[in-house]
Amino acid sequence: DEKLQVAIDGPASAGKSTVAKLVAAKFSYVYCDTGAMYRSTTLKALRNGYKLDDEASILKMLANTEITFKPGEKQQKVFVDGEEVTNDIRQENVTNNVSTVASLSGVRKELVNRQQQIAAAGGIVMDGRDIGTTVLPDAKVKIFLIASVDERAERRFKDNAEKGIHVPLEKLKQEIEERDYKDSHRKVSPLTKADDAKEIDTTSMSIEDVVNAISNEIVKKQ
Ligand code: C5P
Repeated sequence: DEKLQVAIDGPASAGKSTVAKLVAAKFSYVYCDTGAMYRSTTLKALRNGYKLDDEASILKMLANTEITFKPGEKQQKVFVDGEEVTNDIRQENVTNNVSTVASLSGVRKELVNRQQQIAAAGGIVMDGRDIGTTVLPDAKVKIFLIASVDERAERRFKDNAEKGIHVPLEKLKQEIEERDYKDSHRKVSPLTKADDAKEIDTTSMSIEDVVNAISNEIVKKQ
């Protein structure tokens, strides 16, 4: 079977990483969480005390920043310059600032470059916002995952509870809407469905159903 590129895009908390990881395991493909790369860049910029619109400093920093992944039990482990940041990049301060850093064109250029290198050999499931439109425009399988904002806030609320993070549901809803707005309205490769992407509304679907729907698309194109 041909080793395909699978692009999975969609708004915040639509379940992209959960299903992307399962689909990758099913086909023995590599999984790449591009959001983690923007989050890692944001975390390091915050730790360095940079203003998040200071593109020159952030780009200089990024040139000397290594972002790597290792398989983990529940979720993939993320490392910045060798230090594990898997949990740090999911904290509220990163989540609520990442869209600002992700709107910097130089940052996108550098990270898109790295993502294209990771995906070059095929056999990859990559999730993000601009994978089907910009990073892998020739991907054979493109999926656009959506779900109602209520459903996404509830999923996030449950995830948070497991991690011991307590943010009220209403606040999560507001944060998700704000992040979607910023991601969809930025100048460089905003969040949008590629013309040739298959849209899947996961609002009332189980994880297994979504994984099966995506798997069918892969099998058709192999
Ligand atoms: O997927 P996740 O929610 O972890 O992504 C975090 C943020 O990173 C997004 O809200 C968006 O601002 C940015 N991002 C992006 N392009 C991608 C992946 C993520 O701009 N391909």
